[in-house]
Amino acid sequence: MAKKARLTIEGRDPIDLPILAGTTGPDVIDVSGLTAQGYFTYDPGFVSTASCESAITYIDGDAGILLHRGYPIEQLAEQSDFLEVCYLLLNGELPNASQKANFDFTISHHTMVHEQLRVFFNGFRRDAHPMAIMIGVVGALSAFYHDSLDIADEHHRRVSAMRLIAKMPTLAAMCYKYSLGQPFMYPRNDLSYAENFLYMMFGNPCEPFVVNPVIAKAMDRIFMLHADHEQNASTSTVRLAGSTGANPFACIASGIAALWGPSHGGANEAVLTMLDEIGDASRVGEFVKKAKDKNDPFRLMGFGHRVYKNYDPRARVMKQTCDEVLAELGLGSDPQLKLAMELEKIALEDDYFVERKLYPNVDFYSGIILKAIGIPVNMFTVMFATGRTPGWIAHWNEMISGSYRIGRPRQLYTGHPHRDFLPVDKR
Ligand code: SDX
Repeated sequence: MAKKARLTIEGRDPIDLPILAGTTGPDVIDVSGLTAQGYFTYDPGFVSTASCESAITYIDGDAGILLHRGYPIEQLAEQSDFLEVCYLLLNGELPNASQKANFDFTISHHTMVHEQLRVFFNGFRRDAHPMAIMIGVVGALSAFYHDSLDIADEHHRRVSAMRLIAKMPTLAAMCYKYSLGQPFMYPRNDLSYAENFLYMMFGNPCEPFVVNPVIAKAMDRIFMLHADHEQNASTSTVRLAGSTGANPFACIASGIAALWGPSHGGANEAVLTMLDEIGDASRVGEFVKKAKDKNDPFRLMGFGHRVYKNYDPRARVMKQTCDEVLAELGLGSDPQLKLAMELEKIALEDDYFVERKLYPNVDFYSGIILKAIGIPVNMFTVMFATGRTPGWIAHWNEMISGSYRIGRPRQLYTGHPHRDFLPVDKR
């Protein structure tokens, strides 16, 4: 017998609503029939709303659990690599050896961008924020692939997925090179995904570039830790854009735009800015006080999460990676890391943060690693977008390959009821 919820509203017959159960996690009350009964639900920020059914990623915020197709992020971070997690997110299963080799080969052979796309960069100022450039050039990719924009065609969807995952690092590195006035580096098919990214970022045509394997492994893990995170704001944006039938490049560009905000993917850049502003441990108390002050808009960047009311499991892995990178680079006593750890210690002992279950999230430590690797702060959210691309694409594909309707929320209207127009001499 299917479970149901009964909505009792004064003066009218009760409304029975089906309760749906997933494989794990909270059941959901299906309210899609409420409109026919003359009601909308009201849930600003979608705190209590499941927007869709999905089998890609599961988060248990109270327990601090993150599963990609059932596999814990801790095990994937320890034993897998970014492209293998891309395959897992897109296909639902880990690849066997030949599937993995074929996927890696396909990705590495789609890393180049059309030569005319290189000209797009010249329209930007050299100091343009790289996220502004990425929104532009990723959206523009659709202008080069008219051969594969039929979203109803599974092969077109697959080719677009490969192109986007493969080209994001190339475009990201081009943003950086453009800001320096250095030549763009063509991708190399003999390097791994992360090695190739570091080569395109820090290599130059005048001398050979040797990739540090510890740094490459850390970069790969940083991409992986950002790969997907259920129905977060940017993924929900991609799904909403995709529900109109927009092409995948336009949808991913919309996800990049949504990610840019400091409450979301822009937090990693904001963490470093905050640490610079705090300066040293003696001022941590002052900033924790500001973060608690309701009259002060300041928030502790890299802390808190809509879903995690426990330590973000990604932050734990990120901190471990941070220690590895700083040790490899001889930066063990990095002042910003020490400041971040002091900030974390004080915040986690403070009642305000404890009561609200505010813990470090994925953005708290990532910036310290990225900075140590030599990636400029304004490129941090571009790193997040590059890592998140397989997740965005997997959700877009899951929706488009299933049954879906255009997303069209309603509202609680609090504006003027009907009133007649007043000619200007009567106002
Ligand atoms: C990401 O959704 C995802 O999965 C996102 C993400 C992903 O992988 O896609 O995990 C990536 O975006 C991580 C979050 C990065 N953002 C930040 O680090 C920015 C700082 N954090 C906050 O702005 C905030 O915690 C959010 C935006 C992350 C969550 O906001 P919510 O869920 O709307 O929580 P809220 O604003 O309602 O806060 C609840 C309470 C409030 O206090 P009260 O009104 O109850 O007294 O906690 C307070 C808030 O003022 N609070 C903070 C705080 N975060 C929440 N107070 C100080 N500093 C903070 N960071």
